[in-house]
Amino acid sequence: MLFTKLALQLISLSALTAFTLAAVLPTRSDLESRVYPRATELIQSGLVFTIHNVKADTVVDLSAGDNSTITGWSLNGGKNQQWTTLWSGQGWNFQSVATGLYLGITGAAGNGTNLTVASTPTDWDIWHDTVNETNYRVFVPNTTVNWDLWGFGDATSGDPITLWRTWSGIHQTWRFVQV
Ligand SMILES: *[C@@H]1O[C@H](CO)[C@@H](O)[C@H](O)[C@H]1NC(C)=O
Ligand SMILES: *[C@@H]1O[C@H](CO)[C@@H](O)[C@H](O)[C@H]1NC(C)=O
Ligand SMILES: *[C@@H]1O[C@H](CO)[C@@H](O)[C@H](O)[C@H]1NC(C)=O
Ligand SMILES: *[C@@H]1O[C@H](CO)[C@@H](O)[C@H](O)[C@H]1NC(C)=O
Ligand SMILES: *[C@@H]1O[C@H](CO)[C@@H](O)[C@H](O)[C@H]1NC(C)=O
Repeated sequence: MLFTKLALQLISLSALTAFTLAAVLPTRSDLESRVYPRATELIQSGLVFTIHNVKADTVVDLSAGDNSTITGWSLNGGKNQQWTTLWSGQGWNFQSVATGLYLGITGAAGNGTNLTVASTPTDWDIWHDTVNETNYRVFVPNTTVNWDLWGFGDATSGDPITLWRTWSGIHQTWRFVQV
């Protein structure tokens, strides 16, 4: 008798728990996971990657012509398309294998701000894309702006990579391939 009552209480408790959990199911943005260095992550400090735009399949390219312009370019095997990811303790730095310079921006972070390189490191936040977690988004820390291949992911080599407010376009998502 006691057992039955206890069992009933347990059932109703678990039903209540299930209800409570359902009521507070995390939203999609709660499920986003930020990339920290850890054994199971593809992106590790000190590894070298080519970084492919998911829409266009062009890669993040440092202009060999001026050593400063950053655009999307078709993959050519050059060191100017290779980036070492370095964990700063606060965020990620991207160092060019070709020149040792770091990906950054000039001016204020906002829609249309071009990526460029600088001699001092810039911290970035890398997040898994929430729709396809294989892919990543790269944010200016604590902002809503992330890397965006200009023109909704124009695949033409030389297309600028800028910052843009995050939205669902896959031209804002990037596939990292270890070199
Ligand atoms: C770009 O940097 C590389 C490596 O430092 C150097 O060999 C090359 O001459 C530079 N090119 C220009 C256009 O400054
Ligand atoms: C940036 O672009 C988004 C749309 O992609 C827009 O909603 C937002 O207002 C823009 N921000 C500014 C400051 O213009
Ligand atoms: C997720 O992205 C990866 C790499 O870009 C791609 O190979 C895969 O097909 C995508 N998965 C889905 C479900 O779209
Ligand atoms: C971003 O926000 C976190 C948590 O509030 C804070 O610890 C960190 O210093 C902020 N980073 C920047 C670059 O403002
Ligand atoms: C961004 O770069 C492109 C070329 O790569 C250039 O046409 C454009 O003027 C630049 N935008 C700004 C705001 O400097």
